[in-house]
Amino acid sequence: MENNNSRRDFLKKSAAITLGTIASTAIGNNALAASEFVEKEALINSVKFTLPALPYEYNALEPHIDKMTMEIHHSKHHQTYVTNLNKALETIAEPTVLSPSVLDASPSLENIFDNMSKLPPAIRNNAGGHYNHSLFWTMMKPNGGGDVKGKLGEAITKTFGSIDEFKKQFADVAMKRFGSGWAWLVYKEGKLAIGSTANQDNPLMNLESVEIKGKPILALDVWEHAYYLKNQNRRVEYISSWWNVVNWEKAEELYIAAK
Ligand SMILES: [Fe+2]
Repeated sequence: MENNNSRRDFLKKSAAITLGTIASTAIGNNALAASEFVEKEALINSVKFTLPALPYEYNALEPHIDKMTMEIHHSKHHQTYVTNLNKALETIAEPTVLSPSVLDASPSLENIFDNMSKLPPAIRNNAGGHYNHSLFWTMMKPNGGGDVKGKLGEAITKTFGSIDEFKKQFADVAMKRFGSGWAWLVYKEGKLAIGSTANQDNPLMNLESVEIKGKPILALDVWEHAYYLKNQNRRVEYISSWWNVVNWEKAEELYIAAK
């Protein structure tokens, strides 16, 4: 028994280090391939997600997105999702609360989203918040915007008729999301599609109530915390500004990986 406990403690500690590093690196630097977080030996209560560093300075997106909004959005809002996700994961690690089989084999965001219906709302909100924001930071860059080119540009033109028509439809969906949520361009079953989700839901969540499913190509945060300091209630103004900082290269990378 003592040996088993020692092994379990060792696995917990080593998994915590490994997963913390993998999660922060993968989320911070790359395309959020959630499968990269998988560590079969890990125990769910060892998982600690961390806030990824922004790939640019807080003021780098000015004048389109202001420094204070970026700083509060990243260091306060996103940090809170990470903190509360870790707390929620500790809670469900109790074997009496949740069968270990749901997450123990793969304590990853991908597995969390796959098993969403079996998990409590705190996991849904905070895992979603962590994933969505981690993706969102990479969807923007200084001197971004311009025309979308490459294979994604071709696919958007083919699907929506023109880039301008795509932007119009995407902005319309973002405007019509009542309350807080996200607008998405996704790739599913060989096609691009536009849609939105409420709160911190995302298209990877295996839930009927999530209105659009697929692999995210473009994500836009339409919570008021993303624009209120600069644009107050004028979401339309924020969306219009956002096109000037979109990181189309990142979207192209996600599109090619999704195919
Ligand atoms: Fe946000």
